[in-house]
Amino acid sequence: MLVTLSAAVTADGYMDDNTPERLTISTPEDMAEVYRLRTGHDAILVGAETLRRDNPALLLRDPEARRRRAERGLRPDLTKVTVTASGKLDPSLRFFTEGDAEHYVFSTVRLPELDRVATVIRSDAPSARAIVTELEKRGIRRLFVEGGARILRLFLEEGMADTLRLAVNPAMTLGEGRGGAHFAFDAPGKPCIRSRFGGMEVSTWQLKPDTAADDLRFLRMAVDESRKCVPCATSYCVGAVVVTSDGSVFTGRTHETSATHHAEQEAVAKALAAGARLRGASIYSSMEPCSKRASEPESCTELILRHGFAHVAFALYEPDCFVACRGALTLRESGVDVRHCPELAGEVRAANAHLWR
Ligand SMILES: NC(=O)c1ccc[n+]([C@@H]2O[C@H](COP(=O)([O-])OP(=O)(O)OC[C@H]3O[C@@H](n4cnc5c(N)ncnc54)[C@H](OP(=O)(O)O)[C@@H]3O)[C@@H](O)[C@H]2O)c1
Ligand SMILES: [Zn+2]
Repeated sequence: MLVTLSAAVTADGYMDDNTPERLTISTPEDMAEVYRLRTGHDAILVGAETLRRDNPALLLRDPEARRRRAERGLRPDLTKVTVTASGKLDPSLRFFTEGDAEHYVFSTVRLPELDRVATVIRSDAPSARAIVTELEKRGIRRLFVEGGARILRLFLEEGMADTLRLAVNPAMTLGEGRGGAHFAFDAPGKPCIRSRFGGMEVSTWQLKPDTAADDLRFLRMAVDESRKCVPCATSYCVGAVVVTSDGSVFTGRTHETSATHHAEQEAVAKALAAGARLRGASIYSSMEPCSKRASEPESCTELILRHGFAHVAFALYEPDCFVACRGALTLRESGVDVRHCPELAGEVRAANAHLWR
């Protein structure tokens, strides 16, 4: 007999959560592929705990596959198989009541209540080897094993699996205490490299684009801009660069057009004057965008959020000279991609040497 094991796993390594509802880890496309794979088998097996927790019907969904089976004189659904030691199996489970299939229950106890719905095969300790042998005797040539974990272990540890199909949903994690699924990112849109190391299957997902080179390039421009500032005792010399999605670049520096303007404001004002679209744009500032201001009502952090910038990079965290800055944290809390590039921090400190003396 050929035995196929199939399982789906979340990014944090779970096969189910703790909620009473059935958790679907597979994407619709993966689920469709699992349904397609079922059609290449004669029987489908899941553990008794999966039946109790998920109450699956385990049907053949493809009408064409059902028709082909009927043509061969078989019942349209795959033969359904389960294994139990406790015997706790309710005959009203969908496994027994839905579809048109033969049913086998491997059990260590007598189960007269299942007599009407299944053939119960008694055994003191059902092993994978015994299950395969008994099913072969009943004409099963290809078995699809769909979990759960204990049943997969049973077949793997006894060397009774020919194929293992392991589907990982990299975007799905479970909530605290395994309570329900969370989706962290849009997996189909992300690049992925697959490799193998010593028999381990490794998927490397690029969750965020690598912006390091652009960050450094535009931050250098921002630092150059900051050097044009006239040093003053009450504010930092900062340079900022706005880069829009279509690649337009706008620079600004502290006090460039007004004695109360920060560098970010100056760069944003130039971009707006040119009719640029700022939603989704990037802003590079030699220093962390401010989060609190004495001289104006809106901080640069608020300005960046109001215009919908998607990406912020800066070289130096604002020192606690004037106020305690929460710019980077506030932007991150609002979902902005914030990058700190300390490579240029020394140059920013040098441009503000008048404040450190
Ligand atoms: N992500 C996936 O791909 C996937 C697939 C299927 C299931 N699941 C999840 O997996 C969970 C269930 O997994 P699980 O590991 O707890 O249980 P399971 O593998 O579904 O079933 C284990 C049960 O099978 C019976 N059993 C196993 N080996 C046996 C043996 N040698 N002799 C007699 N009986 C045996 C026992 O039933 P008794 O307790 O009745 O004695 C045992 O409790 C569910 O939450 C389900 O949602 C996930
Ligand atoms: Zn500011």
